[in-house]
Amino acid sequence: MLLLPPRRLFLRPLRRSPGAAPRRGSAGPGPGPGPGRERPRLVSTPIFYVNGPPHIGHLYSALLADALHRHRSLRRPGSSRLSTGTDEHGLKVQQAAAEAGEAPSALCARVSGQFRAALAQAAVSFSDFIRTSEPRHSRAVLHFWEALRAGGWLYKGHYEGWYCTASECFVPEAQVAQSPDAQGCAHKVSKESGHQVHWTKEENYMFKLSEFRQPLQKWLHGDKNAISPEPFYHSVLQWLEDDLLDLSVSRDRSRLQWGIPVPDDSTQTIYVWLDALVNYLTVLGYPDAHNAWWPAVHHIVGKDILKFHAIYWPALLMAVGLDPPERIYVHSHWTVHGQKMSKSLGNVVDPLACFRQYTIDGFRYFLLRQGVPERDCDYYDKKVIKIVNSELADALGGLLNRCTAPSINPSGIYPPFSESYFPRSSDQVGAEALGRALREDYELVTSVTLLPLKVTNYFENFQIYKALESITACVRQTNGFFQRHTPWKLCQKNPAEKCWLNTILHVTLECLRVYGTLLQPVIPATADKLLSRLAIAPEERSLRDLTFLPRYHGKPCPFEGRGLGPDTGVLFQKLEKLRCQVETKRSQTSKNSSCE
Ligand code: ME8
Ligand code: MG
Repeated sequence: MLLLPPRRLFLRPLRRSPGAAPRRGSAGPGPGPGPGRERPRLVSTPIFYVNGPPHIGHLYSALLADALHRHRSLRRPGSSRLSTGTDEHGLKVQQAAAEAGEAPSALCARVSGQFRAALAQAAVSFSDFIRTSEPRHSRAVLHFWEALRAGGWLYKGHYEGWYCTASECFVPEAQVAQSPDAQGCAHKVSKESGHQVHWTKEENYMFKLSEFRQPLQKWLHGDKNAISPEPFYHSVLQWLEDDLLDLSVSRDRSRLQWGIPVPDDSTQTIYVWLDALVNYLTVLGYPDAHNAWWPAVHHIVGKDILKFHAIYWPALLMAVGLDPPERIYVHSHWTVHGQKMSKSLGNVVDPLACFRQYTIDGFRYFLLRQGVPERDCDYYDKKVIKIVNSELADALGGLLNRCTAPSINPSGIYPPFSESYFPRSSDQVGAEALGRALREDYELVTSVTLLPLKVTNYFENFQIYKALESITACVRQTNGFFQRHTPWKLCQKNPAEKCWLNTILHVTLECLRVYGTLLQPVIPATADKLLSRLAIAPEERSLRDLTFLPRYHGKPCPFEGRGLGPDTGVLFQKLEKLRCQVETKRSQTSKNSSCE
C-alpha cells in the first residue's frame, strides 16, 4: 500500500536557495550552517569498487572533486567537505575475492587501503573516507531500507533478466547484444558496458521506481543546473521518456552473501547500488545528523554511473522524504592511445607510476588541464610532458625566476610600485609624462583583475580546464609584459630607470601572487612554494579577498617592501623526455573488466 503518493511529495518547494534558512536538524559532523552563513556543501566522489587497484580514471574523479572542494574552502573556510571511499559489497567483489582465494573482508581491507593511500598521496584532501563495510554504514542502509519499506515503496516480486556483474545491474533486452568471446563462442553482452551478461531469475524486493517518472521530470524541469554539463542533463530527461521499470533492490542470499542482509528476511541481500548510494548520507551522519547538510550535496560522477545518480538515487531519496542532491557534476572517460582502458589490453595507467614520473602536482595539473568533462579524453605520456614542461616549468617557473633573479632584483624584495610610471589612465602616457606603460600593459592589468572571478565561475560551472586555460593565458601575457620592457637592460644606478624597473617587478610579482593563489586547488605544493617565495603568509592566500595590484588603484599594498622568501630553488623541475613511456600495470587481481 502506498502511504504517500509521489505527486504529493512536492507540496513544499523542492529546492532551497543557498542562503535560505537551514532545515531542522541536529548539528552534523563537522561545522553545520550557522546563522547568516551560506549553507556549506558536501562534495563527493563516487566510492570505488575494490575489485582492482586505483587507475587514472578513479583519480580523475577524485581530483575534480578535490579541486572544487579546495577552491570553495579557499573562498570561504569551512564551507566545504569532501567525501570519498570504497564500495565493498556485491557480486563483483565477492567473485574477485573468490578468484584471488582471499576472504572478501581481507580483499576489501587490502584494496581499500590502496585507494586510501593513493588518494592521500595525490593530495586529495578528503574529510571522510567511507568504507561500505563499516558498521556506521550498515546502520544507515538498514535505516534507509526500513524507511522505504515503511513508506510502502517495496514489494516482493519475481524478477528475471540479464544481469551484468561488472556494472552490478540488470540490463534491458534491447541493450543486450550477441558477441563472440575470446574462444569464439557466442555470448551475450551489455551494449553499454561491453561486459558479459547472465540470465538471472529470482525472487527479489522491488522498488516502485516506475512511480517516480513525473516527480523526477518535475525536479529536473525546475532546476536546469541540477545536472551538468548540459548534454548530460538532456540525456537524463531523454531516459525519463523511456520505460521506467521498477528496480530490483535485493539479491538472493544464496547467490550473494557478501552484502548487508535484508532485515527480517534471511533469504535476501540488499542490492549493492542501493547500499553504495546511501554512503552519501552515511558520511553526513544519517539517520541522526544529516539534516544539517542534506541536500547541499554535490556529487561528482563518471558518465557510466549517471543513471544510478540521476534517476535511481533521487527517486529513492524522494521515497524516504528527502530532496534530490543539489548538483550532479558528470565527467567523461579517459582512453589510452585511443583505446578504452582495460586490464586485458594491459593499458591501464597506474597513478602511482605517473606520480613517480611526472610528480604529483605535474600529474594533477595535466589531468585537470586536459580533462574536458563533456567528452572523452585521450591519454598520451608525451602530452603530459609537453603541457607540464611548457606551462608549469617554462612559463610559470620561468617567470618567477626572471623577476626574482639577483641580477635584476638584488635586494630580494617585493619592490615598490610607482604610479607615475604606471598611471591609472593611459591618457597620462605622453611625451612629457613619466608613464611608460603601454596599451598591452593595461590589457594585462584588466585580464589579471578579472581573472579571480572568471576562475571562480569556471570552477562552479565544472569547467576547471577552462579556469586553467585562462590562468595560463595570463601567465603568457605576463611573460610578454616582462619581455616587452626588457628590464634587464635598465640601468639600476639611474633613479628613474630603477623606479620603472621596480614597477615592472612589482607588477610581475603581483601577477604571480594571483596565479599562485588561484592555482592552490590544482597544484597545492607548487602553489605553496611559489607563494612562500613571494613571502605571502598562509592567511594571505585566501580567494575571498584576492585583489590584484592595489597600488594601481591608489590603495596600499601590504607586500610592498617585504623581503622575498628564502627558497630560491627551481619552482618546477622540467620533466625529462627520455623517460617518456606508458607505464602500465598488468592485472594483479581478478578485475578483468575494462575500467569504467
Ligand atoms: O562504479 N575515465 O565504481 P568504479 C574517467 N562503485 N573516469 C573513470 C574511468 C575512466 N576511464 N573509469 C572509472 C563504481 N572512472 C561504483 C560507484 S558510487 C555510489 C558507486 C571513474 O570503481 C568514474 O567516475 O567502477 C566512474 O564513475 C568511477 O570511476 C567508478 O569507479
Ligand atoms: Mg566501473
